[in-house]
Amino acid sequence: MTDTKLLLRALAGETLPTPPVWLMRQAGRYLPEYRATREQAGSFLDLCYNPELAIEVTLQPIRRFGFDAAILFADILLVPQALGCDLKFVQGEGPRLSTITDEAGVDGLAPVEGIHDTLSPVYETVKGLSEALPKETTLIGFAGAPWTVATYMVAGRGTPSQEPARRMIAERPDAFGRLIERVTEATIAYLEKQVEAGAEVVKIFDSWAGSLNWSDYERYCIAPNRQIVEALRARWPHLPIIGFPRGAGTGYEAFAEATGVSAVALDSSVNPAWAAERLQPKLCVQGNLDPLAMVIGGDFLVNETRKIVDGFSGGPFIFNLGHGITPDADPKNVELLLNTIRG
Ligand code: CP3
Repeated sequence: MTDTKLLLRALAGETLPTPPVWLMRQAGRYLPEYRATREQAGSFLDLCYNPELAIEVTLQPIRRFGFDAAILFADILLVPQALGCDLKFVQGEGPRLSTITDEAGVDGLAPVEGIHDTLSPVYETVKGLSEALPKETTLIGFAGAPWTVATYMVAGRGTPSQEPARRMIAERPDAFGRLIERVTEATIAYLEKQVEAGAEVVKIFDSWAGSLNWSDYERYCIAPNRQIVEALRARWPHLPIIGFPRGAGTGYEAFAEATGVSAVALDSSVNPAWAAERLQPKLCVQGNLDPLAMVIGGDFLVNETRKIVDGFSGGPFIFNLGHGITPDADPKNVELLLNTIRG
């Protein structure tokens, strides 16, 4: 039985003549139609919790470009919000959350059973998408990994080197361990509901894995990712799962071996020659064009894209960027990218 969906075939380990392609943040501010719908919703969070409009923005890049996958429109910070943290997005500045600094803060979080009251519109979005998508398009659900989500819960905002969370590991390890446990448990419950609602693949974003020092990497990146994979596979043994320990460097190898993910998403610093030798024989890889290519376009985009497609042509591969597409990217460059990959 061969799946008709290219993305699922790559995730199952098949080497394809033309790789499936989608882009992180493919629904976003570089698209005028996204900006219009966001305006209509009122705010970014209102958009996340409005199934009709969240479905619309998820579908926009599929209609325009025909990507092989659609990723649920939501945000990794909805989980802390559902656990009782105050959350707002300040225009031009990014997220602001109430902070957790000690054990009392962790114990004051809402119980995991209650998160679905807040998050149920997201499940409705997933369900609507699973009905609305073209039959060749794969639906990806997602969550943040516990370490990355915790960095925002501790600092109350994005930080350049995640220092507040790394300090908490050093100074209050018990409280930090409890925070990671609580977020892990909530993440499992959240992803289970997404799969029940129709997500065919899940991706776990550990966007700040690269700021953990080597001796904390196993405990706060690999172990929670593994725990999430194991819990999901206990219910769905064949569920494809993409891990993204961004910035992990050589740590990608241990991540790929220890977590049980079906694929690892590579950031743009990873050399395809290294990954083709060390990772691709064991699992599918995804990546890893520099997002700047989507701003620059032209020969730079074409040449860098060809190097990546050639570098990964010997094994299972999904084309993507090394991180999200930025608001200053030109949608015309997405056309150029797709023509370069698909011919
Ligand atoms: O990829 C997609 O198209 C699906 C939707 C998606 C969003 N955020 C929408 C979004 C996904 C998968 C995310 C994940 C996410 N959110 C991550 C992990 C991936 C990564 O980029 O490293 C992180 C760290 C966040 C937290 C977050 N959300 C920050 C720090 C910000 C502000 C910075 C920024 O880019 O503005 C957001 C906002 C956000 N999430 C936007 C979108 C489309 C922009 C909000 C807007 O419309 O103003």
